Amino acid sequence: MEKAKLLIAEDEKTQRDLLEGFLKKEGFSVEAVANGREALRMLEGNFFDLALIDYKMPELDGLQTLREIRKLYPDFPVVMMTAYGTVETAVASMKEGALDYLTKPIDLDELLLMLQKVIERSTLIKENKELRTQLQDRYQFTNIVYGSSVMEEVMGLVARVAPSQATVLIRGESGTGKELVANAIHYASPRSQKPWVKVSCAAIPETLLESELFGHEKGAFTGATQRRIGRFEEADGGSIFLDEIGDLSPSTQVKLLRVLQEKEFQRLGSNLNLKTDVRVIAATHRNLEEAIQKELFRQDLYYRLNVISIALPPLRDRREDISLLIDHFLKKYSEENQKSISDISKEARALLLRYPYPGNVREVENLIERAVILCRGEMITTQDLPFHLREEKSETLWESSEKQKSLPESLEEIERDSILKALHQHQGVQTKAAESLGISERVLRYKIKKYGIRQ
Ligand SMILES: Nc1ncnc2c1ncn2[C@@H]1O[C@H](COP(=O)(O)OP(=O)(O)OP(=O)(O)O)[C@@H](O)[C@H]1O
Ligand SMILES: [Mg+2]
Repeated sequence: MEKAKLLIAEDEKTQRDLLEGFLKKEGFSVEAVANGREALRMLEGNFFDLALIDYKMPELDGLQTLREIRKLYPDFPVVMMTAYGTVETAVASMKEGALDYLTKPIDLDELLLMLQKVIERSTLIKENKELRTQLQDRYQFTNIVYGSSVMEEVMGLVARVAPSQATVLIRGESGTGKELVANAIHYASPRSQKPWVKVSCAAIPETLLESELFGHEKGAFTGATQRRIGRFEEADGGSIFLDEIGDLSPSTQVKLLRVLQEKEFQRLGSNLNLKTDVRVIAATHRNLEEAIQKELFRQDLYYRLNVISIALPPLRDRREDISLLIDHFLKKYSEENQKSISDISKEARALLLRYPYPGNVREVENLIERAVILCRGEMITTQDLPFHLREEKSETLWESSEKQKSLPESLEEIERDSILKALHQHQGVQTKAAESLGISERVLRYKIKKYGIRQ
Protein backbone atom coordinates (compact mmCIF):
# COMPACT_ATOMS: atom_id res chain seq x y z
CA MET A 1 0.00 0.00 0.00
CA GLU A 2 1.23 3.48 -0.70
CA LYS A 3 2.24 5.48 2.33
CA ALA A 4 -0.96 7.18 3.45
CA LYS A 5 -1.10 10.16 5.78
CA LEU A 6 -3.25 9.77 8.86
CA LEU A 7 -4.43 12.17 11.54
CA ILE A 8 -5.23 10.85 15.02
CA ALA A 9 -7.20 12.85 17.59
CA GLU A 10 -7.24 11.15 20.99
CA ASP A 11 -7.09 12.76 24.41
CA GLU A 12 -5.70 9.77 26.34
CA LYS A 13 -1.96 9.87 25.97
CA THR A 14 -1.22 6.14 26.31
CA GLN A 15 -3.84 5.24 23.76
CA ARG A 16 -2.62 8.00 21.41
CA ASP A 17 1.01 6.92 21.64
CA LEU A 18 0.09 3.30 21.14
CA LEU A 19 -1.86 4.02 17.96
CA GLU A 20 0.74 6.41 16.61
CA GLY A 21 3.57 3.98 17.25
CA PHE A 22 1.75 1.04 15.74
CA LEU A 23 0.65 2.87 12.58
CA LYS A 24 4.07 4.37 11.99
CA LYS A 25 5.60 0.92 12.28
CA GLU A 26 3.11 -0.22 9.67
CA GLY A 27 4.44 2.40 7.29
CA PHE A 28 1.87 5.16 7.63
CA SER A 29 2.77 8.75 8.03
CA VAL A 30 1.02 9.88 11.23
CA GLU A 31 0.24 13.09 13.09
CA ALA A 32 -1.34 12.69 16.51
CA VAL A 33 -3.09 15.44 18.43
CA ALA A 34 -4.86 15.58 21.81
CA ASN A 35 -8.16 17.22 20.93
CA GLY A 36 -10.67 18.26 18.29
CA ARG A 37 -9.48 21.84 17.96
CA GLU A 38 -5.93 20.78 17.25
CA ALA A 39 -7.24 18.27 14.74
CA LEU A 40 -9.05 21.02 12.85
CA ARG A 41 -5.96 23.19 12.88
CA MET A 42 -3.90 20.30 11.52
CA LEU A 43 -6.38 19.73 8.71
CA GLU A 44 -6.26 23.41 7.75
CA GLY A 45 -2.62 23.39 6.82
CA ASN A 46 -1.90 19.82 5.76
CA PHE A 47 -3.07 17.12 3.48
CA PHE A 48 -4.36 13.90 5.06
CA ASP A 49 -5.90 10.79 3.62
CA LEU A 50 -7.96 9.95 6.66
CA ALA A 51 -8.63 10.99 10.28
CA LEU A 52 -9.16 8.68 13.28
CA ILE A 53 -11.10 10.57 15.90
CA ASP A 54 -11.95 9.64 19.44
CA TYR A 55 -15.59 10.13 20.29
CA LYS A 56 -15.05 11.20 23.89
CA MET A 57 -12.78 14.21 24.14
CA PRO A 58 -12.95 17.35 26.31
CA GLU A 59 -13.88 20.68 24.70
CA LEU A 60 -14.80 19.69 21.19
CA ASP A 61 -15.94 16.08 21.26
CA GLY A 62 -15.66 13.65 18.37
CA LEU A 63 -19.08 14.37 16.97
CA GLN A 64 -18.60 18.14 17.04
CA THR A 65 -15.20 17.78 15.45
CA LEU A 66 -16.72 15.60 12.74
CA ARG A 67 -19.37 18.24 12.05
CA GLU A 68 -16.74 20.95 11.70
CA ILE A 69 -14.72 18.79 9.34
CA ARG A 70 -17.81 18.10 7.24
CA LYS A 71 -18.39 21.83 6.81
CA LEU A 72 -14.90 22.44 5.55
CA TYR A 73 -14.25 19.24 3.65
CA PRO A 74 -17.50 17.49 2.78
CA ASP A 75 -15.88 14.31 1.46
CA PHE A 76 -12.97 13.87 3.83
CA PRO A 77 -12.93 10.32 5.30
CA VAL A 78 -13.27 10.19 9.09
CA VAL A 79 -13.31 7.08 11.25
CA MET A 80 -14.73 7.40 14.77
CA MET A 81 -13.35 5.53 17.77
CA THR A 82 -16.05 4.80 20.35
CA ALA A 83 -16.15 3.09 23.69
CA TYR A 84 -17.24 -0.53 23.72
CA GLY A 85 -20.96 -1.01 23.89
CA THR A 86 -22.09 2.49 22.95
CA VAL A 87 -23.93 1.65 19.81
CA GLU A 88 -25.82 4.95 19.80
CA THR A 89 -22.63 6.98 19.49
CA ALA A 90 -21.53 4.86 16.57
CA VAL A 91 -24.85 5.34 14.86
CA ALA A 92 -24.78 9.09 15.48
CA SER A 93 -21.31 9.30 13.96
CA MET A 94 -22.34 7.44 10.85
CA LYS A 95 -25.33 9.72 10.51
CA GLU A 96 -23.04 12.74 10.61
CA GLY A 97 -21.05 11.28 7.78
CA ALA A 98 -18.30 9.20 9.40
CA LEU A 99 -17.05 6.56 7.04
CA ASP A 100 -16.80 3.88 9.69
CA TYR A 101 -16.26 3.35 13.42
CA LEU A 102 -14.07 1.21 15.64
CA THR A 103 -14.90 0.16 19.16
CA LYS A 104 -12.39 0.34 21.98
CA PRO A 105 -10.24 -1.41 22.94
CA ILE A 106 -9.11 -1.19 19.40
CA ASP A 107 -8.23 -4.40 17.69
CA LEU A 108 -5.13 -3.44 15.74
CA ASP A 109 -5.63 -6.03 13.02
CA GLU A 110 -9.14 -4.80 12.45
CA LEU A 111 -7.83 -1.23 12.29
CA LEU A 112 -5.26 -2.15 9.69
CA LEU A 113 -7.75 -4.00 7.56
CA MET A 114 -10.18 -1.13 7.66
CA LEU A 115 -7.52 1.42 6.76
CA GLN A 116 -6.47 -0.65 3.80
CA LYS A 117 -10.02 -0.87 2.56
CA VAL A 118 -10.77 2.81 2.99
CA ILE A 119 -7.61 4.00 1.36
CA GLU A 120 -7.82 1.62 -1.56
CA ARG A 121 -11.37 2.70 -2.12
CA SER A 122 -10.67 6.40 -2.10
CA THR A 123 -7.63 6.14 -4.38
CA LEU A 124 -9.64 3.97 -6.72
CA ILE A 125 -12.46 6.48 -6.91
CA LYS A 126 -9.99 9.30 -7.51
CA GLU A 127 -8.06 7.43 -10.17
CA ASN A 128 -11.19 6.36 -11.93
CA LYS A 129 -12.51 9.86 -12.11
CA GLU A 130 -9.25 11.21 -13.48
CA LEU A 131 -8.82 8.39 -15.92
CA ARG A 132 -12.27 8.83 -17.34
CA THR A 133 -11.96 12.53 -18.07
CA GLN A 134 -8.45 12.05 -19.41
CA LEU A 135 -9.56 9.30 -21.72
CA GLN A 136 -12.41 11.38 -22.99
CA ASP A 137 -10.18 14.33 -23.69
CA ARG A 138 -7.40 12.29 -25.19
CA TYR A 139 -9.83 10.60 -27.48
CA GLN A 140 -10.68 14.03 -28.80
CA PHE A 141 -7.03 14.94 -29.25
CA THR A 142 -6.38 12.18 -31.72
CA ASN A 143 -9.47 13.22 -33.55
CA ILE A 144 -8.64 16.67 -34.79
CA VAL A 145 -9.48 16.26 -38.45
CA TYR A 146 -8.09 18.53 -41.14
CA GLY A 147 -6.67 18.50 -44.63
CA SER A 148 -6.27 22.18 -45.40
CA SER A 149 -2.91 23.86 -45.39
CA VAL A 150 -4.15 26.63 -43.08
CA MET A 151 -5.06 24.06 -40.45
CA GLU A 152 -1.82 22.25 -41.00
CA GLU A 153 -0.04 25.44 -40.08
CA VAL A 154 -2.18 25.88 -37.01
CA MET A 155 -1.48 22.33 -35.89
CA GLY A 156 2.23 22.84 -36.47
CA LEU A 157 2.08 25.78 -34.10
CA VAL A 158 0.09 23.73 -31.58
CA ALA A 159 2.77 21.04 -31.64
CA ARG A 160 5.52 23.59 -31.12
CA VAL A 161 3.92 25.50 -28.23
CA ALA A 162 2.51 22.50 -26.37
CA PRO A 163 5.79 21.41 -24.69
CA SER A 164 6.57 24.94 -23.48
CA GLN A 165 5.24 26.62 -20.34
CA ALA A 166 3.92 29.59 -22.29
CA THR A 167 0.49 31.06 -21.78
CA VAL A 168 -1.60 30.48 -24.89
CA LEU A 169 -4.53 32.44 -26.23
CA ILE A 170 -6.75 30.57 -28.68
CA ARG A 171 -8.98 32.67 -30.87
CA GLY A 172 -11.62 31.86 -33.40
CA GLU A 173 -15.31 31.99 -34.10
CA SER A 174 -17.71 29.80 -32.20
CA GLY A 175 -17.44 26.14 -33.15
CA THR A 176 -14.02 26.31 -34.80
CA GLY A 177 -12.45 23.87 -32.34
CA LYS A 178 -10.86 26.09 -29.70
CA GLU A 179 -11.52 23.68 -26.87
CA LEU A 180 -10.29 20.76 -28.92
CA VAL A 181 -7.01 22.56 -29.52
CA ALA A 182 -6.75 23.51 -25.84
CA ASN A 183 -7.08 19.81 -24.97
CA ALA A 184 -4.41 18.95 -27.49
CA ILE A 185 -2.01 21.47 -25.96
CA HIS A 186 -2.48 20.23 -22.42
CA TYR A 187 -2.17 16.56 -23.32
CA ALA A 188 0.91 17.13 -25.45
CA SER A 189 2.58 19.10 -22.66
CA PRO A 190 4.80 17.90 -19.80
CA ARG A 191 1.81 18.60 -17.55
CA SER A 192 -0.36 15.97 -19.23
CA GLN A 193 -0.47 13.73 -16.16
CA LYS A 194 -1.40 16.64 -13.91
CA PRO A 195 -4.81 18.27 -13.51
CA TRP A 196 -6.58 19.76 -16.51
CA VAL A 197 -9.17 22.13 -15.18
CA LYS A 198 -11.70 23.92 -17.37
CA VAL A 199 -13.67 27.02 -16.48
CA SER A 200 -16.18 28.69 -18.73
CA CYS A 201 -16.00 32.34 -17.71
CA ALA A 202 -19.22 33.17 -19.53
CA ALA A 203 -21.30 30.39 -18.01
CA ILE A 204 -20.74 31.35 -14.38
CA PRO A 205 -22.43 34.46 -12.95
CA GLU A 206 -19.97 37.26 -12.36
CA THR A 207 -20.53 37.27 -8.62
CA LEU A 208 -19.57 33.60 -8.33
CA LEU A 209 -16.73 33.48 -10.80
CA GLU A 210 -14.07 34.87 -8.47
CA SER A 211 -14.86 32.37 -5.78
CA GLU A 212 -14.95 29.63 -8.42
CA LEU A 213 -11.49 30.60 -9.67
CA PHE A 214 -9.74 31.50 -6.43
CA GLY A 215 -11.84 29.80 -3.75
CA HIS A 216 -13.14 31.32 -0.56
CA GLU A 217 -12.93 30.97 3.18
CA LYS A 218 -15.91 30.12 5.29
CA GLY A 219 -17.86 33.32 5.94
CA ALA A 220 -16.22 35.29 3.12
CA PHE A 221 -19.68 36.37 1.98
CA THR A 222 -23.29 35.57 2.73
CA GLY A 223 -23.87 31.99 1.78
CA ALA A 224 -20.22 30.96 2.09
CA THR A 225 -20.99 28.30 4.68
CA GLN A 226 -17.86 26.30 4.10
CA ARG A 227 -14.40 26.78 2.75
CA ARG A 228 -14.06 26.20 -0.92
CA ILE A 229 -10.94 25.36 -2.89
CA GLY A 230 -10.74 27.39 -6.09
CA ARG A 231 -10.04 26.08 -9.56
CA PHE A 232 -6.54 27.60 -9.59
CA GLU A 233 -5.67 25.60 -6.50
CA GLU A 234 -7.19 22.51 -8.02
CA ALA A 235 -5.11 22.97 -11.16
CA ASP A 236 -1.82 23.32 -9.28
CA GLY A 237 0.96 21.65 -11.24
CA GLY A 238 -1.27 21.28 -14.29
CA SER A 239 -3.10 23.59 -16.69
CA ILE A 240 -6.26 25.65 -16.52
CA PHE A 241 -8.51 26.39 -19.48
CA LEU A 242 -10.18 29.78 -19.20
CA ASP A 243 -12.86 29.68 -21.84
CA GLU A 244 -14.55 32.89 -23.00
CA ILE A 245 -11.89 35.01 -21.36
CA GLY A 246 -13.30 38.07 -23.14
CA ASP A 247 -16.28 37.94 -20.79
CA LEU A 248 -14.34 38.53 -17.57
CA SER A 249 -15.42 41.40 -15.34
CA PRO A 250 -12.89 44.18 -14.63
CA SER A 251 -12.25 43.06 -11.06
CA THR A 252 -11.64 39.45 -12.08
CA GLN A 253 -9.34 40.69 -14.82
CA VAL A 254 -7.18 42.39 -12.17
CA LYS A 255 -6.95 39.21 -10.11
CA LEU A 256 -6.12 37.10 -13.10
CA LEU A 257 -3.41 39.54 -14.10
CA ARG A 258 -1.89 39.12 -10.68
CA VAL A 259 -1.87 35.33 -11.01
CA LEU A 260 -0.12 35.62 -14.35
CA GLN A 261 2.41 38.15 -13.09
CA GLU A 262 3.20 36.97 -9.60
CA LYS A 263 1.92 33.40 -9.67
CA GLU A 264 0.03 34.24 -6.51
CA PHE A 265 -3.54 34.71 -5.41
CA GLN A 266 -5.76 34.85 -2.33
CA ARG A 267 -8.91 33.02 -1.49
CA LEU A 268 -11.87 35.35 -1.04
CA GLY A 269 -12.01 36.42 2.60
CA SER A 270 -8.35 35.63 3.30
CA ASN A 271 -5.09 37.62 3.24
CA LEU A 272 -2.97 34.57 2.86
CA ASN A 273 -1.04 34.56 -0.42
CA LEU A 274 -1.17 31.19 -2.07
CA LYS A 275 1.47 30.21 -4.59
CA THR A 276 0.36 28.49 -7.72
CA ASP A 277 2.10 26.75 -10.57
CA VAL A 278 -0.50 26.65 -13.30
CA ARG A 279 -0.24 27.01 -17.05
CA VAL A 280 -3.00 29.18 -18.43
CA ILE A 281 -4.63 28.36 -21.74
CA ALA A 282 -7.34 30.87 -22.62
CA ALA A 283 -9.85 31.09 -25.43
CA THR A 284 -12.26 33.63 -26.78
CA HIS A 285 -14.44 34.24 -29.80
CA ARG A 286 -14.48 37.97 -29.10
CA ASN A 287 -12.43 40.64 -30.73
CA LEU A 288 -10.21 41.58 -27.79
CA GLU A 289 -8.59 44.52 -29.55
CA GLU A 290 -11.99 46.07 -29.96
CA ALA A 291 -12.83 45.33 -26.33
CA ILE A 292 -9.63 47.09 -25.28
CA GLN A 293 -10.61 50.15 -27.30
CA LYS A 294 -13.96 50.18 -25.58
CA GLU A 295 -12.16 49.79 -22.25
CA LEU A 296 -13.90 46.52 -21.53
CA PHE A 297 -10.70 44.53 -21.50
CA ARG A 298 -7.40 45.47 -19.85
CA GLN A 299 -4.50 45.94 -22.19
CA ASP A 300 -1.92 44.68 -19.68
CA LEU A 301 -3.88 41.45 -19.23
CA TYR A 302 -4.15 41.12 -22.98
CA TYR A 303 -0.36 41.27 -23.33
CA ARG A 304 0.12 38.69 -20.59
CA LEU A 305 -2.32 36.29 -22.18
CA ASN A 306 -1.28 36.85 -25.72
CA VAL A 307 2.24 35.44 -25.37
CA ILE A 308 1.33 32.90 -28.00
CA SER A 309 -1.78 33.36 -29.99
CA ILE A 310 -3.38 30.63 -32.06
CA ALA A 311 -6.05 31.73 -34.49
CA LEU A 312 -8.44 29.05 -35.68
CA PRO A 313 -9.74 29.98 -39.12
CA PRO A 314 -13.49 29.83 -39.71
CA LEU A 315 -14.57 26.83 -41.75
CA ARG A 316 -15.44 29.00 -44.76
CA ASP A 317 -11.71 29.76 -45.07
CA ARG A 318 -10.78 26.07 -45.12
CA ARG A 319 -13.51 24.43 -47.08
CA GLU A 320 -11.18 21.54 -47.97
CA ASP A 321 -11.77 20.30 -44.42
CA ILE A 322 -15.53 19.95 -44.84
CA SER A 323 -15.44 16.69 -46.73
CA LEU A 324 -13.10 15.06 -44.22
CA LEU A 325 -15.17 16.34 -41.32
CA ILE A 326 -18.33 14.92 -42.86
CA ASP A 327 -16.74 11.48 -43.14
CA HIS A 328 -15.27 11.73 -39.64
CA PHE A 329 -18.59 12.59 -38.00
CA LEU A 330 -20.44 10.06 -40.13
CA LYS A 331 -18.21 7.32 -38.75
CA LYS A 332 -18.35 8.66 -35.22
CA TYR A 333 -22.12 8.95 -35.04
CA SER A 334 -22.91 5.72 -36.89
CA GLU A 335 -20.80 3.91 -34.32
CA GLU A 336 -22.33 5.80 -31.47
CA ASN A 337 -25.86 5.09 -32.67
CA GLN A 338 -25.03 1.54 -33.69
CA LYS A 339 -25.96 2.10 -37.29
CA SER A 340 -24.12 0.87 -40.32
CA ILE A 341 -24.30 3.96 -42.45
CA SER A 342 -21.41 3.82 -44.86
CA ASP A 343 -21.97 6.73 -47.18
CA ILE A 344 -23.81 9.82 -48.26
CA SER A 345 -25.62 10.19 -51.56
CA LYS A 346 -24.01 12.40 -54.19
CA GLU A 347 -26.80 14.98 -53.93
CA ALA A 348 -26.69 15.11 -50.15
CA ARG A 349 -22.92 15.48 -50.18
CA ALA A 350 -23.17 18.25 -52.73
CA LEU A 351 -25.61 20.12 -50.51
CA LEU A 352 -23.37 19.63 -47.51
CA LEU A 353 -20.33 20.86 -49.38
CA ARG A 354 -22.14 23.94 -50.61
CA TYR A 355 -23.51 25.09 -47.27
CA PRO A 356 -21.70 28.07 -45.67
CA TYR A 357 -21.54 26.75 -42.06
CA PRO A 358 -21.84 29.93 -40.04
CA GLY A 359 -21.61 27.65 -36.97
CA ASN A 360 -18.34 26.19 -38.24
CA VAL A 361 -17.27 22.63 -37.35
CA ARG A 362 -19.90 22.32 -34.65
CA GLU A 363 -22.56 22.84 -37.28
CA VAL A 364 -21.10 20.11 -39.50
CA GLU A 365 -21.12 17.85 -36.49
CA ASN A 366 -24.73 18.67 -35.57
CA LEU A 367 -25.93 18.22 -39.14
CA ILE A 368 -24.32 14.83 -39.50
CA GLU A 369 -25.44 13.62 -36.11
CA ARG A 370 -28.99 14.60 -36.96
CA ALA A 371 -28.78 12.94 -40.37
CA VAL A 372 -27.43 9.71 -38.90
CA ILE A 373 -30.24 9.58 -36.38
CA LEU A 374 -32.88 10.24 -39.03
CA CYS A 375 -31.40 7.98 -41.69
CA ARG A 376 -33.34 4.76 -42.26
CA GLY A 377 -31.08 3.02 -44.75
CA GLU A 378 -27.34 2.64 -45.13
CA MET A 379 -26.84 5.88 -46.98
CA ILE A 380 -27.62 9.43 -45.97
CA THR A 381 -29.81 11.17 -48.53
CA THR A 382 -31.06 14.73 -48.93
CA GLN A 383 -34.17 13.66 -46.99
CA ASP A 384 -32.05 13.37 -43.87
CA LEU A 385 -30.81 16.93 -44.13
CA PRO A 386 -32.64 19.88 -42.64
CA PHE A 387 -34.93 21.85 -44.86
CA HIS A 388 -32.87 25.02 -44.99
CA LEU A 389 -30.09 23.07 -46.65
CA ARG A 390 -32.38 21.65 -49.27
CA GLU A 391 -34.03 24.91 -50.17
CA GLU A 392 -32.69 26.58 -53.21
CA LYS A 393 -32.31 29.61 -51.01
CA SER A 394 -29.25 28.06 -49.44
CA GLU A 395 -27.56 29.23 -52.59
CA THR A 396 -28.32 32.80 -51.58
CA LEU A 397 -27.22 32.10 -48.05
CA TRP A 398 -23.94 30.93 -49.35
CA GLU A 399 -23.50 33.97 -51.54
CA SER A 400 -24.33 36.39 -48.80
CA SER A 401 -21.66 34.98 -46.53
CA GLU A 402 -18.91 35.30 -49.05
CA LYS A 403 -18.14 37.06 -52.24
CA GLN A 404 -19.27 35.38 -55.46
CA LYS A 405 -16.65 32.96 -56.70
CA SER A 406 -15.76 32.63 -60.32
CA LEU A 407 -16.72 29.40 -62.05
CA PRO A 408 -13.13 28.15 -62.34
CA GLU A 409 -12.66 28.85 -58.62
CA SER A 410 -15.78 26.91 -57.72
CA LEU A 411 -14.80 24.03 -59.96
CA GLU A 412 -11.39 23.91 -58.38
CA GLU A 413 -12.98 23.75 -55.00
CA ILE A 414 -15.12 20.79 -55.99
CA GLU A 415 -12.12 19.08 -57.53
CA ARG A 416 -10.04 19.56 -54.42
CA ASP A 417 -12.84 18.25 -52.20
CA SER A 418 -13.25 15.13 -54.31
CA ILE A 419 -9.53 14.41 -54.27
CA LEU A 420 -9.32 14.83 -50.52
CA LYS A 421 -12.25 12.54 -50.03
CA ALA A 422 -10.86 9.87 -52.35
CA LEU A 423 -7.48 9.97 -50.61
CA HIS A 424 -9.13 9.75 -47.24
CA GLN A 425 -11.28 6.82 -48.30
CA HIS A 426 -8.30 4.91 -49.62
CA GLN A 427 -6.04 5.76 -46.70
CA GLY A 428 -3.83 7.86 -48.93
CA VAL A 429 -3.08 5.11 -51.45
CA GLN A 430 -2.81 7.14 -54.64
CA THR A 431 -3.31 4.31 -57.15
CA LYS A 432 -6.64 3.46 -55.60
CA ALA A 433 -7.71 7.08 -55.13
CA ALA A 434 -6.91 7.84 -58.80
CA GLU A 435 -8.84 4.80 -59.92
CA SER A 436 -11.93 5.80 -57.96
CA LEU A 437 -11.70 9.34 -59.33
CA GLY A 438 -11.39 8.08 -62.87
CA ILE A 439 -8.08 9.82 -63.54
CA SER A 440 -4.55 8.60 -63.96
CA GLU A 441 -2.17 8.48 -61.05
CA ARG A 442 0.08 10.99 -62.78
CA VAL A 443 -2.74 13.52 -63.07
CA LEU A 444 -3.66 12.90 -59.45
CA ARG A 445 -0.09 13.59 -58.33
CA TYR A 446 -0.09 16.80 -60.32
CA LYS A 447 -3.35 17.94 -58.73
CA ILE A 448 -2.21 17.03 -55.20
CA LYS A 449 0.76 19.29 -55.75
CA LYS A 450 -1.33 22.02 -57.32
CA TYR A 451 -3.71 22.17 -54.37
CA GLY A 452 -1.02 21.73 -51.77
CA ILE A 453 -2.76 18.71 -50.28
CA ARG A 454 -1.02 17.22 -47.29
CA GLN A 455 -0.09 13.56 -47.72
N1 LIG B 1 -10.90 19.78 -36.63
C1 LIG B 1 -11.86 19.12 -35.97
N2 LIG B 1 -11.95 17.79 -36.09
C2 LIG B 1 -12.90 17.10 -35.46
N3 LIG B 1 -13.84 17.67 -34.67
C3 LIG B 1 -13.81 18.99 -34.48
C4 LIG B 1 -12.81 19.79 -35.13
N4 LIG B 1 -13.01 21.07 -34.77
C5 LIG B 1 -14.07 21.07 -33.95
N5 LIG B 1 -14.56 19.83 -33.76
C6 LIG B 1 -15.73 19.46 -32.97
O1 LIG B 1 -16.68 20.49 -33.11
C7 LIG B 1 -17.29 20.81 -31.88
C8 LIG B 1 -16.99 22.25 -31.51
O2 LIG B 1 -15.64 22.40 -31.18
P1 LIG B 1 -15.14 23.21 -29.90
O3 LIG B 1 -16.07 23.02 -28.77
O4 LIG B 1 -13.72 22.91 -29.68
O5 LIG B 1 -15.33 24.69 -30.51
P2 LIG B 1 -15.10 26.10 -29.83
O6 LIG B 1 -14.27 26.88 -30.76
O7 LIG B 1 -14.60 25.92 -28.44
O8 LIG B 1 -16.57 26.70 -29.84
P3 LIG B 1 -17.26 27.80 -28.85
O9 LIG B 1 -16.58 29.10 -29.10
O10 LIG B 1 -18.68 27.80 -29.28
O11 LIG B 1 -17.05 27.29 -27.47
C9 LIG B 1 -16.73 19.83 -30.86
O12 LIG B 1 -17.61 18.75 -30.72
C10 LIG B 1 -15.43 19.39 -31.47
O13 LIG B 1 -15.11 18.09 -31.06
MG1 LIG C 1 -15.58 26.32 -26.63
